[in-house]
Amino acid sequence: MRAWIIAVGIMVASGAAFAQTPAQDKLKAIQADPAALKQAIEAGHKASFFCVNCHGDSGISKIPEVPNLAGQNPAYLLEQIRKFGSGERKDQFMQGLIKVLKDDERIQIALFFGSQAVPPSKADPVQVARGKELFTKLCVRCHGESAHGDATIPRLAGQQIPYVVTSVTRYRDGTGIRNNQLMAIATSTLKNEDIKAIANYLTQLP
Ligand code: HEC
Ligand code: HEC
Repeated sequence: MRAWIIAVGIMVASGAAFAQTPAQDKLKAIQADPAALKQAIEAGHKASFFCVNCHGDSGISKIPEVPNLAGQNPAYLLEQIRKFGSGERKDQFMQGLIKVLKDDERIQIALFFGSQAVPPSKADPVQVARGKELFTKLCVRCHGESAHGDATIPRLAGQQIPYVVTSVTRYRDGTGIRNNQLMAIATSTLKNEDIKAIANYLTQLP
């Protein structure tokens, strides 16, 4: 409870969890207009021709360390694209690739991947049971019961096990590759086995 109160305090004080940019406003306006949305998703499909080499044709990655983008909240995707572009989030592949995208393409790509379905993956049943317990205790209050997230919190349901393990470990250890105070607090008590169990639970969620 105490950590949660502190976490909310940090979120309010820094506003760092989410940048309300003109691009985010434009994304919202498109989402509110069904015809514009359909058009943007089609344009995003075309504009993502290079991204699918790693992230998979419909945003389901076949490379373990590369995250699924399918079903992810478009506002979250757009914010991560912005962070790679500004260098706030670091990755040798992503930082270079994002720089060549125009603003409208970023929005269209976020809408395209966000609109794709996520088939759940197989997982180890023993790990799933333990992971469910931990997730319910430590993560549900932000990521949601079904782990579908929202505009500021990523979807975790159906995500790749190795990607979840790598990401959570980085937040916990504060490696500087990806910093978020809310996630650092939420993961500080996790052991490596706990992280593996949670990742198994998440990957098999629809
Ligand atoms: C060479 C492989 C590769 C290509 C091509 C690639 N990505 Fe990525 N992408 C990655 C990897 C690896 C990560 C995970 C980085 C990390 O561990 O933080 C990532 C992460 C992301 C994320 C963050 C997802 C999340 O859940 O936080 C977004 C958004 C993204 N990529 C969008 C794109 C877009 C848009 C393109 C096309 C312009 C693209 N990627 C092309 C490898 C790639
Ligand atoms: C206080 C709210 C909060 C709690 C509790 C929380 N998270 Fe998060 N989580 C976030 C936010 C906000 C982000 C996005 C941070 C960013 O932009 O880097 C995030 C990001 C993530 C990511 C990266 C996803 C991606 O697509 O890259 C993973 C994995 C994750 N959380 C797992 C967990 C797990 C597992 C727990 C429980 C141990 C947890 N979170 C608890 C708020 C929270």
